[in-house]
Amino acid sequence: MNFELTPEQKMIRDTARELATREIAPKAAQIDKSHQFPRDIFSRLGELGLLGIMVPEAWGGAGMDTLSYALALEEISRACASTGVAMSVQSSLVEGPILKEGTDAQKARWLPDLAAGRAIGCFALSEPEAGSDAKAQKTRAVRDGNRWVLNGTKNFITNGPVADVAIVVAATDPAAGSRGITAFIVPMKTAGVTVGPPDDKLGICGAPSAQLFLADVALDDGARLGPAGGGFKIAMRALDGGRIGIAAQALGIARASFEDAVRYARERKTFGQPIAEHQAIQFKLADMRTDIDAARMLLWRAAIKKDAGGAYSTDAAMAKLFASEAANRAAKEGVQIFGGYGYLRDFPAERHFRDAKITEIYEGTSEIQRMVIASALLKD
Ligand code: CAA
Repeated sequence: MNFELTPEQKMIRDTARELATREIAPKAAQIDKSHQFPRDIFSRLGELGLLGIMVPEAWGGAGMDTLSYALALEEISRACASTGVAMSVQSSLVEGPILKEGTDAQKARWLPDLAAGRAIGCFALSEPEAGSDAKAQKTRAVRDGNRWVLNGTKNFITNGPVADVAIVVAATDPAAGSRGITAFIVPMKTAGVTVGPPDDKLGICGAPSAQLFLADVALDDGARLGPAGGGFKIAMRALDGGRIGIAAQALGIARASFEDAVRYARERKTFGQPIAEHQAIQFKLADMRTDIDAARMLLWRAAIKKDAGGAYSTDAAMAKLFASEAANRAAKEGVQIFGGYGYLRDFPAERHFRDAKITEIYEGTSEIQRMVIASALLKD
């Protein structure tokens, strides 16, 4: 087993690290406080090729592998978890399914703009009554000649308030269950598409999410993504890739908590010595570091298996499960190491603590990841 990165992988990681350190980290507290989507930073990601890492060069991307994407996303999320999730949704949940299932016309229309950050994408699967049970879709798409008419409400749509395009999943044949669901590419300017007010959230406050309302949204058949009835599998495959993205985001948050805590532990003195000299703190730091490395190994394995072309759902679920729970452990201990200061908004530890929580919830809760892992192992 070789853990050495290629020169290209190091290059993209270093590009992301440089941007994250110089331009994103100094703004992260303000992005969180203002609840403003960092459009300028998103554009910079696009300019540097970080929004189309896995998109082939022919479609305007960097044509690199999933591990490169994970490396870059970890660096961006280490500086700002809000920016990290926006990048993850754009890459995994929007570009991913267009690349995999789209026609050449759909790829040409959307991928160059998404990869360059000229367009922002969102992924509309969840509904008020279809979260973990994703196939319980109430949004309907009814065929009318060569058109489809969509009606319904989507929930918690990350990037929704700023998006130009949405991947929308809707029931086209409710009696057929998961085989009666179809995916569509919906420009947000289409008549009948409206977005609710931004959700008021605990964390990732710079990544706006909202409800999406579809009222008699008429689309021609060219907006259909993949086969009619194939939408559930398209969404599940997109989420397999998405879980790699969220694992990388969680890893970035864990690293931020850990690195901030190490720096503080070296500076802060109690009982006449830096708290890093106390075994109580050393044990916390050792556990955080071990968690981070274990999460990274699971993430890299999932990324490498995805590119190898075989099944990787379970690997992505394990990576997302472990990394998100590791991020929450690290963020909690980060606050503890900072003590009273960790509880203040003046220090980043409390932002990491709030940002970490969502990684155990979106793109499949930890309970859903365990279901995915268990159902695969019981089939073996
Ligand atoms: N890839 C391809 N196909 C898949 C698949 C996958 N990963 N998982 C399931 N399928 C297929 C199955 O093989 C089955 O196909 P057949 O009909 O041919 O047999 C079909 O899909 C139905 O599968 P299941 O019976 O296993 O489906 P289920 O109803 O039991 O659900 C689930 C499975 C894993 C629980 C799924 O509902 C799930 O992942 N739920 C969580 C949803 C989720 O992650 N939502 C996140 C929303 S997006 C978000 O958070 C983005 C954001 O804003 C940041």
